[in-house]
Amino acid sequence: MMPPSASSSSTWSPEVTEPFVPPPYPYDRLEGFKRRADQLPGGVVDLSIGTPCDPPPDVVVEALARSGAERGYPPSIGSPAYREAAVGWMARRLGVTVDAAHVAACVGTKELVAGLPQWLRLRRPDLDTVLYPAISYPSYAMGATLAGGRAVPYVALDEIDPGDAARALCIWVNVPGNPTGALGDLGAAAAWGRAHGVPVLSDECYVEFTWEGSPHTILEHGLDGVVAVHSLSKRSNLAGARAGFYAGDPELVGYLAEVRKHAGLMVSGPVQSAAVAAWGDDAHVEAQRHLYLTRLDAMVSALGAVGIDATRPDGAFYLWVRAEDADGYSLVARLADEGGALVSPGEFYGSGGAGHVRIAVVQPDDRLALVAERLAAG
Ligand SMILES: Cc1ncc(COP(=O)(O)O)c(C=O)c1O
Repeated sequence: MMPPSASSSSTWSPEVTEPFVPPPYPYDRLEGFKRRADQLPGGVVDLSIGTPCDPPPDVVVEALARSGAERGYPPSIGSPAYREAAVGWMARRLGVTVDAAHVAACVGTKELVAGLPQWLRLRRPDLDTVLYPAISYPSYAMGATLAGGRAVPYVALDEIDPGDAARALCIWVNVPGNPTGALGDLGAAAAWGRAHGVPVLSDECYVEFTWEGSPHTILEHGLDGVVAVHSLSKRSNLAGARAGFYAGDPELVGYLAEVRKHAGLMVSGPVQSAAVAAWGDDAHVEAQRHLYLTRLDAMVSALGAVGIDATRPDGAFYLWVRAEDADGYSLVARLADEGGALVSPGEFYGSGGAGHVRIAVVQPDDRLALVAERLAAG
């Protein structure tokens, strides 16, 4: 069956005869600014990618080294201990009770985000659309493209075109959101998905870095038709280990776990053991929260001192800063040349993000202080 024609927001689909050419990876496009920033004494301070700089807790590294889980194949769905650790963490930190049968492992969450539409299309070949927040993490749209489907951004749930909703494989929400840190209404998202028969995928990888009010998961609103996606990358400074999980709607989680088993997607055995230790410990997250809050406030002051208006976000560890020009590149250039800092232009997160930059406070305090000194001197 030929799928319906693609929207203008889709970059590729099967009925287009040209071969798919992967677009340049966004961060690779920053090389020129990186070289400019690197010319300052002390070198570039990279605030572009949201990659943690602090170490994971010792107990996690210890588990990674001594699991003895190297020999055999690890369970694709996650070991019973892995899934129980996720269940325990959700109960402690988010106040929700989920049966381990409705939890499954993913190899970090990016592969799930980027791969999910192809698994959903196999299940519903009559559908072809992924709905995603207009200003957001780029992998939601890329996942649709990689599945040969349509990536359709939305600004507000009540503005989604009924035709797009009728074709939707899923809708993504992300709270706290990357890049803006915004806290959305997860109850409204769950209700919208149920009303339209569209699975709601809730990317909650920054949930413990919620600064305004308490952290929330979509699972508070029941499991029916919703799946929460969680990661250890940010929470426990384990981006290099690749561990996450998804939990929620029993039928959907069961389908994804089965199809992913066939695809050979597995979190490695030693990493599964380390993840059990990481989900089981909250003290390191409290310490990490303090570090990020301090860094966010330091950067807000440093920018304010040179006339750049920035405010602490409601969640996550990014500053979303308006630039003076339409595309935001003047501020990327100024921060590189005067501050020696590499930041991301807002257009990486959708055309609606143009005119902003995203600053990730993922460098140690002394490196951020260096940026502040350089800006003040410039
Ligand atoms: C919103 C969001 N989702 C998912 C990810 C992927 O994280 P990981 O694959 O390390 O779990 C990121 C990483 O920056 C992100 O910002």
